[in-house]
Formats: sequence, structure tokens, C-alpha cells
Amino acid sequence: MERDLLIQEVLRLKAERQAVILAHSYQLPEVQEVADFVGDSLGLAREAQRTKAKVIVFAGVHFMAETAAILNPEKTVLLPDLEAGCSLADSIRPEDILAWKQDHPEGIVVAYVNTKAEVKALADVCVTSANAVEVVARLPKDRPIFFVPDMFLGAHVARVTGRKLDLFPGECHVHAGIREEHLKALLEKHPGAEFMIHPECGCGSSCLFLKPDAKMLSTEGMVRYAKKADAKEFVVATEVGILHRLSKEAPEKTFIPVKPDAICEYMKRITLEKVYLSLKEMRHVIRVPEEVAQKARRALEAMVAVG
Ligand code: 13P
Ligand code: SF4
Repeated sequence: MERDLLIQEVLRLKAERQAVILAHSYQLPEVQEVADFVGDSLGLAREAQRTKAKVIVFAGVHFMAETAAILNPEKTVLLPDLEAGCSLADSIRPEDILAWKQDHPEGIVVAYVNTKAEVKALADVCVTSANAVEVVARLPKDRPIFFVPDMFLGAHVARVTGRKLDLFPGECHVHAGIREEHLKALLEKHPGAEFMIHPECGCGSSCLFLKPDAKMLSTEGMVRYAKKADAKEFVVATEVGILHRLSKEAPEKTFIPVKPDAICEYMKRITLEKVYLSLKEMRHVIRVPEEVAQKARRALEAMVAVG
């Protein structure tokens, strides 16, 4: 189907189904353009709760749709492509948590939202990159804490809060691939630019001495910061889908990707055509078994309440 017609059909079906389209900032530009809301993991989880729509088409990856389904059992959550997964969420299994808990019966498990429902069900609290520091800073000081699964985000949270965290050695292949040498090259080329770094990046600790005034921000934090900062030029260390949003929301500023091939192939599985098919055929419905959802819901409700 031709693109303009596809857009028309998506909008028509959206109204007919009383649906909303929620899109993550790493989605393809044409998918972001048909969405009712574009945001980061925390914003999307909250928007899924706020919407009065009965159907949510989740233009993002599986764990995000699952989060929306757990928080809103009365709504129908659709993921346009079931193969839209996440290497970070795949890096940890429930057994990893159970083994740690056995050695630390008094311990607290903090799960990044980039995890499967079965892992969240074993966690005490979930976090996103936007509120991980705030959530961890509030935890009791006399109990061991296991932060899973992203070790770079975990190290950043430990640094900022001064808390000792046990870190699971997980990583996102896209962000882990953004390393010190990429940062160095951009620092030489754009010495006057501001640097915005996602805390999942592999360059997280080296940026502390290479560019001490770099800002460690979630994707939504980047959009907010770029809009209000005086600088005209920004080097951006995260998945490149965010550049569409940054340029749209701060059109007078220049954004330079630290690694132009930092592309999440899972996020890019969601195309306009698949969004259309999702609405047309009401597929793929994301369901989480209630016994898992019930436990994961506690940890997720604690997450959306902070930050
Ligand atoms: P945020 O959008 O919460 O910053 O997370 C980034 C990410 O990697 C999502 O997959
Ligand atoms: Fe997962 Fe990384 Fe893709 Fe985000 S960018 S969905 S963390 S693989």
C-alpha cells in the first residue's frame, strides 16, 4: 500500500477501534509520526495507565508492551511484531535472581524495566533509566541490593547514589557498543558541543574523565535537556532513533550521533505497515499469566510512582 494511504488507514482504524498508538523514541520516524504519544519507558508506562482508550498499539519492544499489559489488565495491548525483543531483557533468567536471593535472604532486587515479566515478578521494585537513581537512593541502607540486568546503568546508579550494589553482568548490545573511542573522536571534532549520554552506554565510566560535564540522561531526559540548554550543538550517545524527536522538538539545534550505526534492530521491526496490520487484525495481543502479572504489578506500580 502506498504510504499516504497507509497513514490514512492507520488513522481510520485507530478511530474505529478506539485505540491509541504509543511509540518509543527509538521507533522509525514514520511510526513516531502516527503515534498519539512518543516517549521513554517511564512515560510510556504512565501513558498506558492514563489513556481512556481500550486498545493500545505498542510501537516499541516486547517488554514495554508486557509492562503496559501488566499495569492495565482491562485494556487490550497489541505488539505489531512479536519478534521485537530486547537483547538486555534476554540476558537474565528468573534462576539468576533466585540464586542471588538464596545467598541473600534479606536482599532487595531492583529490576530495570528492560526485563521479562517472570524476572519482574521476582523483583521488589522496577526502575527505568529516568528514575533508577531516585528509587535506589530511597532503599533501606542496611540490606544488600541486587541491580539487574544492565551493569552499565547499575554502575552509574552506584556512583551517583554512593550505594553498594551487586551488579548482574547484563548489557544492551546497542549501547554497550558505544565506547570510549567513539566519545574521544567526537570530543576532538566538536569540542564546544554538550554531550548527552544514555546510562546504558559502554562509555559511561570513561566519560567521567574524558568529559566530566557530560550529562547522563534517559531518552526523555535528553529531549527535555536539549530544549532548555543554551548550547546549540549536542553530541548524542544512544540509539539513533532519538535524533528524529530531538530535531523535531528543538529544530534550531544540531544533534550529532556519537555512533551513527547504533541502531536497535528490534525497535526497527515495527514498521508503519505492521502498525496498520496490527490495528486491522487486532494482533498480536500481549497476555501475561495472572499469577506472574500479579507479582510483577507490585514492582511496576512502585516504579511508576517515582520520578
Ligand atoms: P529509556 O527510553 O527509558 O531511556 O530506555 C532506553 C532503552 O534502551 C529502551 O529500550
Ligand atoms: Fe533492548 Fe537495547 Fe534495543 Fe533498548 S536499544 S530495546 S535495551 S536491545
